[in-house]
Amino acid sequence: MTNTSPLSQTSRPGTPARPRRLLITAGPTHEPIDSVRFIGNRSSGKLGIAIAQAAARRGDRVTLLLGPVGTETTALADTGVVTRRFRTSADLQTLLVRHFRSCDLLIMAAAVADFRPKRPPAAGEKLKRSAQGLTLRLEPTPDLVAACAAARRTRHPQQIVGFALEPASRLAWSAKEKLIRKRLNAVVANPLETMDSDRIHATVYGFDDGRPTALAATGSRLAKAAFGPWLLRVIDQLPPHASPEGPISRPKGSSRRPVRPPAR
Ligand code: C5P
Repeated sequence: MTNTSPLSQTSRPGTPARPRRLLITAGPTHEPIDSVRFIGNRSSGKLGIAIAQAAARRGDRVTLLLGPVGTETTALADTGVVTRRFRTSADLQTLLVRHFRSCDLLIMAAAVADFRPKRPPAAGEKLKRSAQGLTLRLEPTPDLVAACAAARRTRHPQQIVGFALEPASRLAWSAKEKLIRKRLNAVVANPLETMDSDRIHATVYGFDDGRPTALAATGSRLAKAAFGPWLLRVIDQLPPHASPEGPISRPKGSSRRPVRPPAR
């Protein structure tokens, strides 16, 4: 595993020629309870925006799908980033359906809410406060990044990088589990404990010889502003295909059956 300077600076054979078409998602989703209330994750979208700007600066063609954050998008347009906005996971799903097929690399940094109200609110509805309280029935949102992975082009492989934000105690396990279950090329693992910090302590997991492995780490808590270029250099070194041939063993401690990679 490498520290602050990832892997090596040379490109592997098979890495698509630049400029690459990047699709980056950032920010939370807001799942409406009524016209004014929602369920959502705490997310500023700053990390995804920083990655988008770093990619545009080095000449990649970048489309940023940006959630409900207060960011002014004219500054993004000045750097060459094309921005499309979403509010709900359903909006983001629609945008991914539209944009995923034509990208070479998807970086899924959006903090998609895992649940949404089962009953969509009626237009103009605002729930009244009541002494009985309120019980909401929630349903899981579709796993958008896993759906993209399942819909990958078979020719000209598309790379997909997901994120994992978990307590440090189960971070490595969760990152490897998401890498396999969602069929991603890499997962960027961040400890929950650094969420409000201006520094990042990320580890990138990917496949090495068929096994989920920590490929690179920022080591000594990198400034978030420097994270975009760092991550892009790590991604440049990933092999073009997500999963190795043959079954992949689940991470140690998992009781589920081994997962087979998709047929190509
Ligand atoms: O399963 P979990 O939410 O921890 O996985 C995080 C990764 O999966 C992130 O890359 C996030 O953008 C993506 N995700 C998704 N659809 C969901 C939930 C998470 O694409 N419904």
